[in-house]
Amino acid sequence: MAEGQIEAFLTEERSFAPPAHFVAHANAKPTIYDEADRDPVAWWGEQARRLTWDVEPTTTLEWTRPYAQWFSDGRLNASVNCVDRHVAAGNGERVAFHWVGDREEDYVDVTYRDLLDRVCRAANGLSSLGVKAGDRVAIYMPMIPEAIVSMLACARLGAIHSVIFGGFAAEALVDRILDSDCRYVITADGGYRRGEASALKVNVDAAMPKCPDVAAVLVVKRTGQAVEWTPHRDHWWHDVVDSQSSEHVAQSFEAEHPLYLMYTSGTTARPKGILHTTGGYLTQVATTHYYVFDVKAETDVCWTAADIGWVTGHSYIVYGPLCNGVTQVLYEGLPDSGGRDRWWRIIEKYKVSILYTAPTAIRTLMKWGDELTRLHDITSLRLLGSVGEPINPEAWMWYREHVGQNRCPVVDTWWQTETGAIMVTPLPGISVTKPGAAMRAFPGITVDVVDNDGVSVGNGEGGYLTLSAPWPAMTRGIWGDAERYVDTYWSRFDGSYFAGDGAKRDADGDLWLLGRVDDVMNISGHRLSTTEVEHALVGHEGVAEAAVVGASDDTTGQAIVAFVTLKFSVADSGDDHRSIIEDLRNHVARTISPIAKPRQIIITPDLPKTRSGKIMRRLLRDVAEHRALGDVTTLTDPAIVGVIDSLMSQHASDDE
Ligand code: WT7
Repeated sequence: MAEGQIEAFLTEERSFAPPAHFVAHANAKPTIYDEADRDPVAWWGEQARRLTWDVEPTTTLEWTRPYAQWFSDGRLNASVNCVDRHVAAGNGERVAFHWVGDREEDYVDVTYRDLLDRVCRAANGLSSLGVKAGDRVAIYMPMIPEAIVSMLACARLGAIHSVIFGGFAAEALVDRILDSDCRYVITADGGYRRGEASALKVNVDAAMPKCPDVAAVLVVKRTGQAVEWTPHRDHWWHDVVDSQSSEHVAQSFEAEHPLYLMYTSGTTARPKGILHTTGGYLTQVATTHYYVFDVKAETDVCWTAADIGWVTGHSYIVYGPLCNGVTQVLYEGLPDSGGRDRWWRIIEKYKVSILYTAPTAIRTLMKWGDELTRLHDITSLRLLGSVGEPINPEAWMWYREHVGQNRCPVVDTWWQTETGAIMVTPLPGISVTKPGAAMRAFPGITVDVVDNDGVSVGNGEGGYLTLSAPWPAMTRGIWGDAERYVDTYWSRFDGSYFAGDGAKRDADGDLWLLGRVDDVMNISGHRLSTTEVEHALVGHEGVAEAAVVGASDDTTGQAIVAFVTLKFSVADSGDDHRSIIEDLRNHVARTISPIAKPRQIIITPDLPKTRSGKIMRRLLRDVAEHRALGDVTTLTDPAIVGVIDSLMSQHASDDE
């Protein structure tokens, strides 16, 4: 959203006081901000008591910028905190997951006792394959209980999981497996998408010739489809895991023991492995989950409608909610698997009380119509959350009115893979909310909005979001690339972490997130870099040069628009470049993922370049968003922008 638009939404009736029924019972009391402000580090030290430690920490924070250690002399086991302790406390019969498959006939309830049993068998199974503490294990799976069991089994053994989103292609698997030298891969034969079986193991098979150090591939039989089999390397989950003992004594690890890697897109073609460790991470995900979602473990049913392939799934499906011992819905399918009212049916059936999802999903559901929300009883909902991209006020209002029936607070939560947990958010029961604003820093977190020189801006002004003090769930760096960690996050502003987002403080001092200010795109809440897509495009034999921009899109937030020059002349191919464009889109899907398919590809005779040869993406973004063009005089060929602009209008029909 453009800065100027914000004020337009700040009319009196567009801010909502916390509902009275919330104020009385909210987990967060009005004093929470002051308490945390008095001594944020000590406050986090208190929060760490939510966890079960084998050795209680006596230290809280050691900070040598840009590296933090939290609770470093404490020892704990993440999987024990997520599972064993709830069973030990007598809550073994509580449902951990109502698992809902893509197909209507697939569902199962997994209690905390079942989960413990499954995690222990899986840990024993992984040990039998040779997995040890510190080993990296790639997990490439659909949204099935075994995916979570695999993560927790790795954590139990102190092995570092690296979950790779099931939508990624073989090449993307290769990059991620090699970068962190994963020796084990856990996958499934396939999954279901709108009732159809899709294949996953084929991508692992295609990746393996380039990953000779992978010793074992463990395969869950999900669909029963035919798969290729490599003896000695491939093992069925049911052969390795099912026969194991359901007893497994978990060892404790240091608080700073690595828990997982999550690859995310930066501003270069190479994804970076964001490292998270155990004690600080679990403290912040459990604390934020408790206060932001106001969870009551005995009665709430939480549904984070996200994929475990992204950090939202790690923090708010797996580690936060399980640390807090709540009941959740885990859904495998798409929003319209089995009909466009599927979500509302799931909410009705399982009496979901807390829903957390991305603006793209909200806008899609909005397009499908609020009539569908009224076909089902969704009055069990009491709190709604949004994450992953800026939420436009229209979508926020629709969410509040039609899903939350004007009764449920809406919390817009800003954070990143790197921050590990929620950083900026309203707190239900305390905060006034405004459609489209993430409002303020979570207790114990320090954020700032600064100008180009790193000076804090005043109310009513915009700038860059920075984080000036360490926080427990912050990344401990980029796997194998310490320099890149410093360069990317700690070099732009002296002494502060630069998030890459634009932000604004409104007249009341409340925070609005305005989207990325770097070459990172946000497509339906999926993070992709422009360079990554350019790299894939120039990898095609016909392409000479490519420039990619993220253009705003009504549904997906941003959409990919690519400008491409070809190596050979296809001017007289007679088909208006349509076949090569289709070929290029498929090439990107095969190289990265279908989510990276450009919405539009414009074949152009040249790209706008400065005299020093730099492509001016800013101008291309103006073209892609149909804006008036700025200064073009620094270009070697100023006329090219006009040419591209007219090509863009001719090809407007390429939009899907
Ligand atoms: C980027 C991080 C947070 C988990 C999912 C995405 C954007 C995230 C918001 C929000 C505006 C948001 C930012 C951020 N973003 N939440 N509430 N309002 N923008 O994690 O893939 O690491 O992406 O998502 O641009 O930098 P991610």
